[in-house]
Amino acid sequence: MPCDGAGKEVVPEAVKVLRGVGADLEFEDFDIDADSYLRTGVAIPDATWKDLQAADSILFGAVGDPRVPDPKYLHGVLLRLRFELDLYVNLRPAKLYDDRLSPLRREDRRKVDLVVVRENTEGAYVGMGGRFKQGTPDEIATQEDINTYAGVTRIVEYAFGLAKREVVMVDKSNAMTYAGGLWQERWKAIAKAHPNLKTRHLFVDAAAMQLVKDPSQFEVIVTGNLFGDILSDLTAELVGGMGIAPSANLNPKTGRGLFEPVHGTAPDIAGKGVVNPIGAILSAGMMIRHLGHREMADAIEGAVESAIRAGDCTRDLGGSLSTSQAGDAVVKRLKD
Ligand code: NAI
Ligand code: MG
Repeated sequence: MPCDGAGKEVVPEAVKVLRGVGADLEFEDFDIDADSYLRTGVAIPDATWKDLQAADSILFGAVGDPRVPDPKYLHGVLLRLRFELDLYVNLRPAKLYDDRLSPLRREDRRKVDLVVVRENTEGAYVGMGGRFKQGTPDEIATQEDINTYAGVTRIVEYAFGLAKREVVMVDKSNAMTYAGGLWQERWKAIAKAHPNLKTRHLFVDAAAMQLVKDPSQFEVIVTGNLFGDILSDLTAELVGGMGIAPSANLNPKTGRGLFEPVHGTAPDIAGKGVVNPIGAILSAGMMIRHLGHREMADAIEGAVESAIRAGDCTRDLGGSLSTSQAGDAVVKRLKD
């Protein structure tokens, strides 16, 4: 599902790399985009939805279009997939592949190799709330932040299962005491069951500060939907920017997954052949790893790292290649 804008440019590069690494996958293309939404008013047609439900994995580009300010479109595509396929884990790794991509001045703090484990099916993004007396000076707007025992438990447990060294739990339990209270309780209980792992708590504001100050201290950060969304843009910028950041949306119990670059449709640069395909390519790497092909995933990551270090990349990473040349530069290195 390339969807819109930059998504249409980067997904073909990711597919090219999957084919280049020899992955024996059958692909089916779906034309879900703003054009068809504007034409039909339907985000995902029923027949397409059935096919998507049956897919082992979904490789996704990005949704959004300046002509469609309507939030129903985003909700009807990406949020529907996340919620209805119950993809409750959003994994957002950030790894520095070359020192020159770090914005940090201090060399000893540049080494970033962390993952944000973002709760993906609850929190402030469920679309509950409303606007009362809309458009008047007396207007009241509410946006509910939904946190369930089951939802918090499963995401915190996933983070502890993933970590080798330490889990840092991030919330805002000093100000948001009800939701934060539940996160605190579940985190403490689950931490007890993992005495071999270190664990720490940070309020989200302090976490933002620590991430900029010394990101090398982090391994696994687990947090809610909203904080995870925000912090993972920050962590992307610590390793080279939006063009490079991959993500996986997973349900570890059903095995379902949707894999997408963290970036959006980049309307400011889309359509000019300059968007960076690395975020999508690394997302395809996460997909093939999830499907059980660890060597292929390692090969993709290795080829990406080598292309970046050689400067064979798009201009946002200091190179001068086009989107498709940057994809070719990765494919060329797969066999090295
Ligand atoms: P964006 O991620 O599209 O762009 C932010 C900045 O990063 C822009 O300066 C853009 O040029 C740059 N950028 C993004 N992807 C890049 C790439 N592959 N290579 C090089 N530079 C890249 O976020 P923005 O501008 O806030 O949103 C644009 C549209 O995308 C909106 O309609 C928004 O709703 C949608 N969006 C969709 C997402 C998704 O489908 N998961 C995620 C974020 C935004
Ligand atoms: Mg975001």
